[in-house]
Amino acid sequence: MIYETIVTTADRDGRPHIAPMGVRFEDGFAILAPFRPSATLDNVIATRSAVINFTTDVRVFAGCVTGYARDWPTIAADKVPSVRLKATLAHSELRLAELRDDETRPVLRMECVHRATHAPFAGFNRAQAAVVEGAILVSRLFMLSPEKVDSEIAYLQIAIDKTAGDIEREAWQWLLRAIEAHRAKAAG
Ligand SMILES: Cc1cc2nc3c(=O)[nH]c(=O)nc-3n(C[C@H](O)[C@H](O)[C@H](O)COP(=O)(O)O)c2cc1C
Repeated sequence: MIYETIVTTADRDGRPHIAPMGVRFEDGFAILAPFRPSATLDNVIATRSAVINFTTDVRVFAGCVTGYARDWPTIAADKVPSVRLKATLAHSELRLAELRDDETRPVLRMECVHRATHAPFAGFNRAQAAVVEGAILVSRLFMLSPEKVDSEIAYLQIAIDKTAGDIEREAWQWLLRAIEAHRAKAAG
């Protein structure tokens, strides 16, 4: 099972970095698999730490993946030299246990050393799921045909129209804008 989360890290100077990332849990360890090049990977190697943020604010996913809103407020983590999102339902602080290196996609096996819950989970929302799917599409625009993107977006739009609130609508607009910008650039 893969959970789509926001991974926060810090570089050696404490500068925060925020990235949407899938996480698996295996034998009590959290497994991250960042594609190279990756600032998350560089920061984990530098500090041996990362934080998983469990958030339903899908603007963080869409904002980071499009580059339209990357600077979400962070605060220092409690037990590791890293940061967490200031607004998150819960977070887990991780220490690097093992790095399985690979020239394309290294695997980071990380031990959870601290967990905290800050707010309750409000329930599933289809528009939030649609934004997460749309954010994955946007992160793969370079390898997907325009027809595939259009058909997926048309399907996801149904959940947006039926169930989104303001946060999801704002995130969705960033994704649509990024798709347009990608196409304008490709057309020269
Ligand atoms: C929901 C979601 C899940 C993602 N999961 C991964 C992942 O597991 N590994 C990865 O390298 N990129 C993943 N991405 C793309 C990264 O967020 C994006 O490429 C990011 O810039 C990672 O590079 P960085 O560490 O330099 O920020 C995901 C994107 C989204 C929207």
